[in-house]
Amino acid sequence: MEDNSKQANLEPLQHDSDAFDDKRVLEGRRSFFLWLIAVGAAAMTTLLSAPLVRYVFYPVFAKTTSVSWSNLGKKSKFLSITTPVKQVVEIKQIDGWREEISRKPVYITKGNSKESLDGVQVLSAVCPHLGCEVPWNEAEGKFICPCHGSVFAPDGSLQLGPAERGMDTLPLKAENDDLMARYEYFQALLSYKKQVE
Ligand code: FES
Repeated sequence: MEDNSKQANLEPLQHDSDAFDDKRVLEGRRSFFLWLIAVGAAAMTTLLSAPLVRYVFYPVFAKTTSVSWSNLGKKSKFLSITTPVKQVVEIKQIDGWREEISRKPVYITKGNSKESLDGVQVLSAVCPHLGCEVPWNEAEGKFICPCHGSVFAPDGSLQLGPAERGMDTLPLKAENDDLMARYEYFQALLSYKKQVE
């Protein structure tokens, strides 16, 4: 009699314990699936947002600065020049998303630098010493920098410092007999020409 009552008391306990275990297994599975969904969603978000992030931050990390070619006019009219001819070129510079139009003075001269074309070359008017604009001095027949007195020959070669190199030549090409120059910036204070990236 006593044993039967014990058995009767134990059965509900056994049921409670089984139900508790089932509940724990179910909760464990649910947590696992939730975790799986969260990881999947995070991976999808990362995958989908990568191109967007790259698009937005492109200008910050873009290294390339692209500068357009400027038309200087018919090549034939420069073949017979005897002194440097000043021209202001309009350049379009693109840095990432930023587009900037500026005007820069250059000199078209006779010369045989490696960037010359049929004995014509284009010089940047920026002094390679510290960046002042160098004017052509017609009376002296030289370029004379007003800032610290550097002197350059008509072809831009260095005659007197403190500049340590001659005036910088710019890339040149002909297109349908038009002379095209690409403006570039160069590092100051060096004895050799080095383009600023
Ligand atoms: S900037 Fe031209 S000589 Fe110094």
